Amino acid sequence: MCSIILALSTLFACVTLSYANRGPFLEQIGNTTWTFGNDLWNVTQGAIYASNVYFRGTELVGSASGHYMGYDGENNFVWSSAAITSRGEDYIDVSFSCKEGELHWVIFDGQAGAYQYFVNRALPDLKPTCATSPSPDFSLYQNATKVQDETWQLANGTFITKYDFSDYVRERDFYGVYGPDVGSWYIHPGTDYYNSDHLSQTLTVHRESATGDSVQLNVVQDTSHFRVGEKVVQPAGKVWGPWLWYLGSVEDAKEQSSEELAKWPYSWLKDAAYQSRGAISGDLRLSDGRPASGAAIFLGDTDSTRRPSIQGRDYYYTTQTDQDGRFSLENVRSGTYGLYAWPDGGALAGVYTNLSMSGIKVAAGAVTKLGPLTWSVPDQSKRLFSIGEFDKKALGFRNGGPPYQHGVSEQSPANLTFTVGKSQTSDWYYAQALVGTWTIEFYLNGSDLALGDRAGSATLSLSFAGYSQSTAMDVTINDQLLGSLDKDTFASDPSLYRSGKTSGEWRLVQYSIPRASLREGFNRLGFIITRYTQWRGFMWDSIILEWA
Ligand SMILES: *[C@@H]1O[C@H](CO)[C@@H](O)[C@H](O)[C@H]1NC(C)=O
Ligand SMILES: *[C@@H]1O[C@H](CO)[C@@H](O)[C@H](O)[C@H]1NC(C)=O
Ligand SMILES: *[C@@H]1O[C@H](CO)[C@@H](O)[C@H](O)[C@H]1NC(C)=O
Ligand SMILES: *[C@@H]1O[C@H](CO)[C@@H](O)[C@H](O)[C@H]1NC(C)=O
Ligand SMILES: *[C@@H]1O[C@H](CO)[C@@H](O)[C@H](O)[C@H]1NC(C)=O
Ligand SMILES: *[C@@H]1O[C@H](CO)[C@@H](O)[C@H](O)[C@H]1NC(C)=O
Ligand SMILES: *[C@@H]1O[C@H](CO)[C@@H](O)[C@H](O)[C@H]1NC(C)=O
Repeated sequence: MCSIILALSTLFACVTLSYANRGPFLEQIGNTTWTFGNDLWNVTQGAIYASNVYFRGTELVGSASGHYMGYDGENNFVWSSAAITSRGEDYIDVSFSCKEGELHWVIFDGQAGAYQYFVNRALPDLKPTCATSPSPDFSLYQNATKVQDETWQLANGTFITKYDFSDYVRERDFYGVYGPDVGSWYIHPGTDYYNSDHLSQTLTVHRESATGDSVQLNVVQDTSHFRVGEKVVQPAGKVWGPWLWYLGSVEDAKEQSSEELAKWPYSWLKDAAYQSRGAISGDLRLSDGRPASGAAIFLGDTDSTRRPSIQGRDYYYTTQTDQDGRFSLENVRSGTYGLYAWPDGGALAGVYTNLSMSGIKVAAGAVTKLGPLTWSVPDQSKRLFSIGEFDKKALGFRNGGPPYQHGVSEQSPANLTFTVGKSQTSDWYYAQALVGTWTIEFYLNGSDLALGDRAGSATLSLSFAGYSQSTAMDVTINDQLLGSLDKDTFASDPSLYRSGKTSGEWRLVQYSIPRASLREGFNRLGFIITRYTQWRGFMWDSIILEWA
């Protein structure tokens, strides 16, 4: 092995001299070994790993395993051939084939990095990952105790885990791993090939616990880490990317990321479906006359029986409405979509309903204008109270929100009393896990109950940002059982035990409370944990009580 590497570097030193400024290139140097790159960088690709990454004369991968790709988190793509499939004045498009599809590297003259995209041929289900580069602090793992997958507890009780390095895929600018001089980055200016909605999360980087190598991930189809896992059939011809794999300093990457945003969608990609794009705009009003301000807007599958979190066959677009309830999306691939809108806190904090529409056509070069559309909401005057903002996230509650951190649900108290009108939102915790009772005390006076006499019952809406089994909860009103929530009611999502403090898979449960179960004076809603499972539990979003 060593002698081969030496021989290659000697050979390439000569090649560089004779081919100075030769621009983008692909060279086959063995049966399943290729070198490609440009005058700034080059990569040597084997059947599975691309091991040598030279950038401005320095090798970046070292003893780490290098770049690989596959599905289900494995290095299972085996490259059997490579060819330049198209070229322009200043670039070549190199396609590496494996039986599942083709990974393209689009190499421009003088660019510090390359665009990549993957075209599906025969994937069962996908979460491609790519990896590069070494880094420090491996010593911490040696004395730590492994407590769950890729999660270790240090002597002082704190945890280290790859899940702490996760984020919301549609909110990223760029990410990667870097040393003192140079970093390896992924810049995804377009995100339409990512599955799922605003709440789509995945890992970014981690340390290979066996070797200490730093791993830079590029997960473009995550169907399981932070939601209820569900496989999605991938149509042949689906394209993930192009994104940019970029080499440079943090400052360079930042600048490059805004340049890529301005260039997206890329005009150089010779793919008619990729280039066929239109725009859509809309105007959303609530049925009570208010504009649907700051709502989450998702352009997804036209089949709305599949919830946004598990959609992932095609291409997806997300945005927010403005203060006036208007939204617009540009550069949407032409096709037929479903439109979904739901509250994202702010002015819509107390709304738990949503709007969905099917069969919306976006045509190339045209703007589809929707609206005004009316979104039905319950009569706000029937509201008794709400705690937390409805946004499918645990924001606003104690310990809720970033950063990702393992095991924080254990810091929530077992028992808690929240008094409506007196307690603050931040007195409620983001997650409930320990055996005990959380109580909401609320006062009803004669005029409240007179409204209740007319309504006959109240509706309790419990919105959860996530749930990890097998924690179980009884819900009571004035000590009467309304229902029990557990692993038989909710399918488990891994968010809470994988450092999620904002959201996992959203759920809404509603109970009808007969007027007779409520009384003048203090009433008590109880949330009683009857079964504990370490690091698992209920992640709260909001609680709303109103007359029916
Ligand atoms: C090279 O490829 C040919 C054709 O696929 C195969 O017969 C041969 O065994 C390969 N040689 C090596 C060294 O892998
Ligand atoms: C790859 O880059 C290294 C370092 O700059 C250089 O020595 C080598 O010749 C390059 N390889 C090719 C095939 O250009
Ligand atoms: C690990 O434990 C050994 C022996 O107890 C100690 O010498 C060393 O400093 C520890 N390393 C770290 C990183 O805590
Ligand atoms: C626990 O130990 C790690 C590793 O030494 C250190 O980085 C961290 O700050 C410590 N945390 C606390 C709360 O002591
Ligand atoms: C809309 O609300 C219904 C009823 O609560 C729910 O089943 C559905 O999942 C919601 N859809 C979205 C996109 O939030
Ligand atoms: C929670 O309250 C119950 C009932 O009052 C009590 O038995 C239990 O000890 C409390 N748990 C903690 C951790 O304080
Ligand atoms: C009853 O309580 C409501 C708030 O729940 C308050 O707006 C109203 O003024 C109260 N009415 C009386 C008569 O105290």
